[in-house]
Amino acid sequence: MIRLDKVLSHLGYGSRKEVKEIIRKGYVTVNGEVISKDDTKIDEENDEVLVFDDKIEYDKFIYLMLNKPSGYVSATFDNKLPTVLDLIEGYEKRGLFPVGRLDIDTYGLLLITNDGMLAHKMLSPKYHVDKKYYLEFDGDFKEENYKKFEDGIILDDGYKCMSAKFELIDKNKGYITIKEGKFHQVKRMMEALNMTVTFLKRVSFGALNLDDILKYGEYRKLTEEEIESLK
Ligand code: URA
Repeated sequence: MIRLDKVLSHLGYGSRKEVKEIIRKGYVTVNGEVISKDDTKIDEENDEVLVFDDKIEYDKFIYLMLNKPSGYVSATFDNKLPTVLDLIEGYEKRGLFPVGRLDIDTYGLLLITNDGMLAHKMLSPKYHVDKKYYLEFDGDFKEENYKKFEDGIILDDGYKCMSAKFELIDKNKGYITIKEGKFHQVKRMMEALNMTVTFLKRVSFGALNLDDILKYGEYRKLTEEEIESLK
């Protein structure tokens, strides 16, 4: 058994003081009964707890796969534009954030979590996590470009990229797999070879593949196997 105010506070419903207030005001039910004593204890495995009529999720960490649409910023807050978190419902105050960034006009796989350790690991240059993108582009893809991607493209600011893999699937369509995440990296790599990206969508991130079932703007929880594969 564990104190309810402690659980709710850990889950992000507020400080211990704020949570006690919510309980005292009668906004919390345990197994259907309104409770008002702030020292109530619950059985995390079996009790059903509702806060403001919403069932609480006990999982400490949340892992969501989002199929990002265009027009959303990969951030937790923006003054003017909608963020990817505006697409996520029911996890308010859980400290969610996107792992890395996709440009506002980029689509596809974005991991949303509150697990800072995992995010750090997936983004750290030390681990070289593969990111695979589907892309469409203007310009001619020349045979010699395969080797250039493999050897490391030099960007406009002089940075030499790590080795990348390009797969051409049609005259102006392909996949590119990169191991790092510099600002506008794929677009700039293509520009360096006189091609312009017209559509970009991330299809995988490390061991995680974008689920085809998700339409743009939709998300789902990762399965246990997917979470394990990332760790
Ligand atoms: N490379 C880009 O240019 N943009 C993205 O959003 C991701 C990778």
